[in-house]
Amino acid sequence: MSEPKNYKEALQHPIFKTITKASKNLQLESYVIGGFVRDYILQRGTAKDIDIVAVGSGIELAKEVSKLLPNTPKVQIFKTYGTAMLKAGDIEVEFVGARKESYTRDSRNPIVENGTLEDDQNRRDFTINALAIQLSHKNFGAVLDPFGGLEDLKTKIIRTPLDPSITYSDDPLRMMRAIRFATQLNFKIEPASLYAIKSHKERIEIITKERIVDELHKILLSDKPSVGFKLLEETGLLHYIMPELIALKGIDEVEGQRHKDNFYHTLEVVDNISENTNDLWLRWAALLHDIGKAPTKRFNKKVGWTFHGHEFVGSKMVFKLFKRLKMPLNEKMKFVQKMVLMSSRPIVIASEVTDSAVRRLVFDAGDYIEELMTLCEADITTKNPKRFKKYHNNFKIVRQKMVEVEERDHVRNFQPPVTGEEIMETFNIRPSREIGIIKEAIKEAILEGIIPNEHDVAYQFMLKKGKELGLVIESQKNLE
Ligand code: CTP
Repeated sequence: MSEPKNYKEALQHPIFKTITKASKNLQLESYVIGGFVRDYILQRGTAKDIDIVAVGSGIELAKEVSKLLPNTPKVQIFKTYGTAMLKAGDIEVEFVGARKESYTRDSRNPIVENGTLEDDQNRRDFTINALAIQLSHKNFGAVLDPFGGLEDLKTKIIRTPLDPSITYSDDPLRMMRAIRFATQLNFKIEPASLYAIKSHKERIEIITKERIVDELHKILLSDKPSVGFKLLEETGLLHYIMPELIALKGIDEVEGQRHKDNFYHTLEVVDNISENTNDLWLRWAALLHDIGKAPTKRFNKKVGWTFHGHEFVGSKMVFKLFKRLKMPLNEKMKFVQKMVLMSSRPIVIASEVTDSAVRRLVFDAGDYIEELMTLCEADITTKNPKRFKKYHNNFKIVRQKMVEVEERDHVRNFQPPVTGEEIMETFNIRPSREIGIIKEAIKEAILEGIIPNEHDVAYQFMLKKGKELGLVIESQKNLE
C-alpha cells in the first residue's frame, strides 16, 4: 500500500495543535473533515468553519479544547445533535462524535448511534466532503480518503460515498447541495447521482423552505448561476421549487411567428448580471424579471406575440413567490419587485431618448437607477452583433442623459421645491385636496421640463396653479 498523503501544511492554524493536545488528554482520535479539507485542497482560501470528528464524545473534546485555550471560550452545546461549537478568534469550530446514522422515510433527522471514523465518513454527502485529516500526534496530517475524494477533486466530480439512492433519499437536501457544489466549483455530477436525484426529486418536499433558499442563494451567488438552474430544471427539482420559471420554458409558433425561450433567456440574463454585480437581490431580480411573461402571453395576428403588462403581473408574482419560499417580505423583496416592475422602462425610452422620459425614469427609479440600468444591460441577449452594439449604445446615451438631467434638475431623490406648508401659508388654507393637486402639478411640470427644479420659478408656477383652482393669495386678500 502506498503511504497516505500528508496535508500537515493545511493544519497551520494553532487551533489544530490544541485539538491534538486535547485529544491526547482524553485519549481519543480526532480528525478535521468536510468543507475545510475540501476547500484547502481546492485552494479556495482558508475556511472560517472547521468541522472536527472525534471518535468518542465531541462535546467532551470541545470542553477540553476550551480549557486549553488562553481565554477558555464558551462551548455551545447542541444536545439534540450531540454537537458542540466554540469560537477561537475569527474561526468557528464544530465538534461531533463519530456516528452511524439511519434514516426513516419521512424525516431528514436520522437515528444516531456512536460509530467509527469509517461510519462517519459513510454518512457524509459527497466523496469530496468525506475526506478527513488526522489530528493525533502519531499521524498528524495524514489524509483518510476511503472513497477516492482526492481523485474526484482532481477530476471535478460530485459523487456520493454510498449508493446515491441511499444518500439522497436519506437527506434530500443533498440533491440541492450536489447542484450547488457543481455550480460553485464547476464540477460535474456523476451520471448515477444525477439519475438518483431525478428519481427522488419529490422528496425535496420534506426539506424546509429556509434550507432550500440557502442553497438557491449560493447557486445565485456563483460565477455562473445558469449551471445550477439548468441542473435544477433537468433533474425536475425546479418544478417543486419555482414552477414560475418552468412556465417560461419553450417556444411557441403560430403562423410562422415564434417568441424566444424565456427560460433560457432568463438564465443568460442572470449570468450576464453576475459579471457585473455580486448583489444577491439584483441577481434575484434578474432571475425573476420575466416571470410575468408566462401568464400574459398572447398571440395577436397583427403584431405577433405580446406580453402586455408582464412587468406589473411579474412584480405581483414576486410577492407570492417570496411568501411561498418563506423569504423575507421586507425592503429586499420590495427592491426585487421594483426592478421587475421597471425592467422594461429603460428599453422603451432607449429608442428615442428624450429629456422628459429620462427625468421620469430617474425620478421613478430613485436610489435604484444604477441597479435598474445594470439589469437592463444584462437583459441584452441578442446574438446579432449589430443589434447588440446598437442596444448597448442606446443605453450609453440614456446614461449620459441621466447625468445631464440629474445635474440640472436633481430629480433622483426628488424634494418638492415648494413645500405643502408654503402653499398653505401663501393661500392661508388648511390641509386640503388643493395642496396635493398643486404639488403634483409642480412635480409634473418639472418632469416634463416645463419649469426647472428651482424654488422661485416653482413658486410662480404655484401662484398660477392656485389661481386656476380659485385660491386667493393671502397678502392680496385685503386689497380685494
Ligand atoms: N454534510 C452532509 N450532508 C448534509 C450537510 C453536510 O453530509 N446535508 C456533511 C459534509 O461532510 C459537509 C459537512 O457535513 O462537508 C459540513 O457541512 P456544511 O458546513 O453544511 O458544508 P460544507 O461542506 O462545510 O460547505 P459549505 O460551507 O460551502 O456549505
